[in-house]
Amino acid sequence: MAATDRITSLSDVPDSSTFCFRVRNGNDDEREAILVRDGTDDVACWLNYCQHFTHINLDKGSGAPMRDGEIVCANHGAYFDADSGQCTFGPCEGAYLTAIDVAVDDGVVYLTDEAYEFVGPGPIETDDADRTSTSNVEF
Ligand code: FES
Repeated sequence: MAATDRITSLSDVPDSSTFCFRVRNGNDDEREAILVRDGTDDVACWLNYCQHFTHINLDKGSGAPMRDGEIVCANHGAYFDADSGQCTFGPCEGAYLTAIDVAVDDGVVYLTDEAYEFVGPGPIETDDADRTSTSNVEF
C-alpha cells in the first residue's frame, strides 16, 4: 500500500470513540470520515455524517460518543452499529452509514477505497463556532 494512502496508526484509533480524517472524492469538496475499532486488530470506516440529518457530524472534532459498540449521534440519539454501519435505534433506524474501504497492515490503517483520496487527519477546518452544538435550529 502506498505511503500516500496511510491514514494513521491503528494505535491512534481509540477503543471507545472515533478517529476523524478528511477525504476527497475526485474534484468534490473535502468530506470527513471516521475510523472506529472493529475488534482489536481491525477498523471500520464511515463518512462522518448522521443519516437522520446528513449535515450533522457524528464526530464533532473530539471523537464520537459510543456505547456498547455503537456510535451514538449526539443530536437525537441515533445508534449506529460500528461494524455494519446500520442504525439500530433512533429516527433513521434501518439506514446505513456510507462505508469507505480501509485496510490494516502491520499496525497501520490505509485508505483502500479507489473512490477517495486521503487529504489529512482531523476534521475540516471551519469558521462554524457552532460545530459542537447539538441544536438543529438554523438561523
Ligand atoms: S441528526 Fe443524528 S439522530 Fe438526528
